[in-house]
Amino acid sequence: MTDPKVVVEAIGLTKVYGDGEKVYALNDVSFRVQAAEFVAVMGPSGSGKSTLLNMIGALDKPSAGKVIIDGHDLGSLHDLDRFRAKTVGFVFQMHNLIPTLTAIENVEVPMHGQGISERERHQRAQELLTMVGLQGRGHHLPSQLSGGQRQKVAIARALANSPAIILADEPTGNLDSVSGDEVLSVFETLHSQHGTTIMIVTHDANVARRTHRILMMRDGKIVQEDIVGDTFTEDLKVLARSELGQAVLHGQTPDTLSPAERDLIQQLLKRVMA
Ligand SMILES: Nc1ncnc2c1ncn2[C@@H]1O[C@H](COP(=O)(O)OP(=O)(O)OP(=O)(O)O)[C@@H](O)[C@H]1O
Ligand SMILES: [Mg+2]
Repeated sequence: MTDPKVVVEAIGLTKVYGDGEKVYALNDVSFRVQAAEFVAVMGPSGSGKSTLLNMIGALDKPSAGKVIIDGHDLGSLHDLDRFRAKTVGFVFQMHNLIPTLTAIENVEVPMHGQGISERERHQRAQELLTMVGLQGRGHHLPSQLSGGQRQKVAIARALANSPAIILADEPTGNLDSVSGDEVLSVFETLHSQHGTTIMIVTHDANVARRTHRILMMRDGKIVQEDIVGDTFTEDLKVLARSELGQAVLHGQTPDTLSPAERDLIQQLLKRVMA
């Protein structure tokens, strides 16, 4: 099997602030994110989460180390603005929508200057709004949308140029739990149905638990890495090796299961045994 595509590679990433007393916002951080991964970054305030995201998204330059995104070394690119617009989609805590533009027009903004016709821009923006569950809201101004809906527009806008990765910095931080949940569901759908690669900074352990990997930061370093749902996978593997699991995997339908249940369990077991 070939290696899954690496979308982000950070090598020895370091960011130092200050002339006198230096602050190591990032201190020799290395990690990779592969295509179609959904990764959470957690850690206390000031641990370097936003700095890390900003370096990956080429919003800021590292003091040392390098970032390779989608095969491009950011340090050797000349037109970072152009690269960023095409390759990275940002979603921030504050949606940053333009208040005088409708939802559709906001989503179209990043498509300007990309050689896309007006009709195509409009159509794609509409498709993206549907994808995030906002069909029928395209002509609303941000002020006519709820906080959660605005954040969904911001996600649609981030997707406008089919970026290699979505970087989201506390996208649910300003929302009540119900709206936050809905916004997170949008990320989950993007990931599961469209294979979107997502990196999300969050303070909320419940948000992080819905991703697949958690990078824990402290004092500018990644101090821990957890694979989410590992125990669930292990439990399924135990089931797959059991008599029942083996029967299902071999296409038999034990008396206690309906054919539909058998199919569902078979699918799950095949996935963990793949
Ligand atoms: N422009 C800057 N100038 C000086 N110091 C900075 C600057 N930006 C960040 N820092 C410092 O770098 C460290 C990391 O900041 P960062 O914003 O990345 O933290 P964070 O983990 O995102 O925190 P929070 O959870 O509060 O958003 C902090 O100590 C911060 O004070
Ligand atoms: Mg931050």
